[in-house]
Amino acid sequence: METKQVFDKVANKYDLMNDIMSFGTHRYWKECLIDWLQPKPGMSIVDVAGGTGDISKRFLKRVKGIGKANICDPNVNMLENGSKNIHIYENCISRTCAPAENLPFNNKTFDAYIVSFGIRNFNDINKGLEEALRVLKPGGRFMCLEFSKLENSNLAKIYEKYSQMIPKVGKLVVGDEEPYQYLVDTIEKFPSQQEFKEIIKNNGFIDVEYRNIFNGVVAIHSAWKK
Ligand SMILES: C[S@@+](CC[C@H](N)C(=O)[O-])C[C@H]1O[C@@H](n2cnc3c(N)ncnc32)[C@H](O)[C@@H]1O
Repeated sequence: METKQVFDKVANKYDLMNDIMSFGTHRYWKECLIDWLQPKPGMSIVDVAGGTGDISKRFLKRVKGIGKANICDPNVNMLENGSKNIHIYENCISRTCAPAENLPFNNKTFDAYIVSFGIRNFNDINKGLEEALRVLKPGGRFMCLEFSKLENSNLAKIYEKYSQMIPKVGKLVVGDEEPYQYLVDTIEKFPSQQEFKEIIKNNGFIDVEYRNIFNGVVAIHSAWKK
C-alpha cells in the first residue's frame, strides 16, 4: 500500500484514531516536544508531515499567536481535514502541499523545523534531513517526535502484543486494517534512537540529543544547524 493511499483512507478519522490508539497520550508526547522546544514569541516554524496540524496549533497556543507556523504535508486531504476546525490563531497558519524531500521554501527560512510522527513516512530520510538543514536559519533547530524502541525488554514484549491489536482496532474504527498494519510495520522498521541520532549527525546537524518518553515508546530528537 502506498503512503498516500494510507493517509487518504484515514484522513477524516485521523485525530480520533490517534486518541484511541495512544489512549490520548499523543497529546502529552506533543506537549513534551513543545516544552523542549521552549518556543519564543515571534518564532517561525515549519511543521513537516504536519497532517492536520496538531503541532502547529500547540506551538501557536504556547506563543499566544505571536509566531508563524507553516503546516506542510503532501496529502491535501490531511491538510483540509486539519483546516476544518478553525483554530483561534488561524491567521498565523499557512499550509503547503509538498513532500519533505522537496520543500518549496527558500534557504534559511525557519527558526525551527518540526516533524511529528512523520519521518517514518518519508521516501528518503537523508534527502528529508538535507532539506531540513537547507530551510533552517543558521542557529535553527530540528526536532523530531517519533515512535521508537523500548529500553526494557519485558515492556517491549507487552508492547509488541499491543501493536498486533492495532490493525484490528483500525478495522473497527476506520473500517480498514491495512493503514494500521502499515503503521505497525513502519514503526518496526524505523531505526533505534541511537541509530537515528547518528543519521541526523551524518546529515550535518550539531548537538544532537534525544529524550525517551514512556521507556522509548516514543523519542524526541533535537539537533541544531550551525
Ligand atoms: C501520522 S501523520 C502525522 C501528522 C501530525 N504531524 C501528527 O503528529 O499528528 C503522518 C503524515 O506524514 C505525511 N507524509 C507521508 N509521506 C510524506 C513525505 N514524503 N513527506 C512529508 N510528509 C509525508 C502524511 O501525509 C501524513 O499526514
